[in-house]
Amino acid sequence: MGDEPVMATNDDASECKRGAVQLGYWTDNYIPYFVRHIERKAPEINRGYFARIKAVDNFIQKFINRAGSNAQIINFGAGFDTLYWRLKDEGIVISGYVELDFPTVTSKKCYTIKRNKPLLDRIYEQDGEVRFSSTDMHSGNFHCLGVDLRNIQQIKEKLQQAEIKFDKPTLFIAECVLVYIESEWVNRLLQWLSSAFSTGFFINYEMCNMNDTFGDIMMGNLRARGCNLAGISNCKNLDTQKSRFIDNGWSGAKAWDMVEVYHSIEPAERARIEKIEFLDEQELLIQLFQHYCICIGWLGNDFADFEIGM
Ligand SMILES: C[S@@+](CC[C@H](N)C(=O)[O-])C[C@H]1O[C@@H](n2cnc3c(N)ncnc32)[C@H](O)[C@@H]1O
Repeated sequence: MGDEPVMATNDDASECKRGAVQLGYWTDNYIPYFVRHIERKAPEINRGYFARIKAVDNFIQKFINRAGSNAQIINFGAGFDTLYWRLKDEGIVISGYVELDFPTVTSKKCYTIKRNKPLLDRIYEQDGEVRFSSTDMHSGNFHCLGVDLRNIQQIKEKLQQAEIKFDKPTLFIAECVLVYIESEWVNRLLQWLSSAFSTGFFINYEMCNMNDTFGDIMMGNLRARGCNLAGISNCKNLDTQKSRFIDNGWSGAKAWDMVEVYHSIEPAERARIEKIEFLDEQELLIQLFQHYCICIGWLGNDFADFEIGM
């Protein structure tokens, strides 16, 4: 199987986010530039995206609050993520933000940034001159770079171009990305990160508890679209998610399934979004939540006390 179906998962994720934002699950003024049409998804899918966005954003805030303006962010398989612009809208200043994805995906992102003044202007205002190649974008502190995450040498070169500092506190994000990469390559990436960076924090969101009938159906659906889950062996349960960090030199790891994550969201916020769409039966939502998780890993002790609470 080629990489095209894996890249296409970004279109799907972006469409889901666009639809949920349109319904009011959360605010994102920038996703409409990347996805023009709105497709209605099942309420369970919208709630799933809501919980994931809330949890990931919450850890990002915690990290930035602690690391301050020295913070760097490296977003693996970022797709059309709008995090850079959302952070800027909140007035958050960090020392570097790098997005990595396949060159086919980053070239589409660069093209969209070039063609939409509000996206481009925000970068100009905050990060000075913007330089584009067909697949990469560089500015003062924001870089969107095409790379195959299975190629560590290429990653090193791209991070050097982006002037990432290995001694600064660095947040690594991978949302639904590692599962598409053979475990051997993910292990090498995690090993390299743990040896290269002195202090850091990793947020990984992806599948877990895949060894049951529901998991088989999820995998079958993706395979039917030509998408191989090459890294699925680490998604067996929360322990396999955590041990991947420990086995690859990280100082510690914790993981929660999305049932726990959902219940950690403030009751008022849950009550608000539960009114947006009526859910026929809770069973499907719970099953979906049981099959996704947030796993965090840290390097050094600076972020070892972070918990899921919001
Ligand atoms: C499901 S999408 C998620 C996008 C984004 N993180 C989000 O949450 O919306 C998976 C992304 O990972 C990227 N990806 C998967 N394997 C990759 C690899 N080997 N090298 C670079 N990018 C990869 C895909 O191109 C795609 O953009």
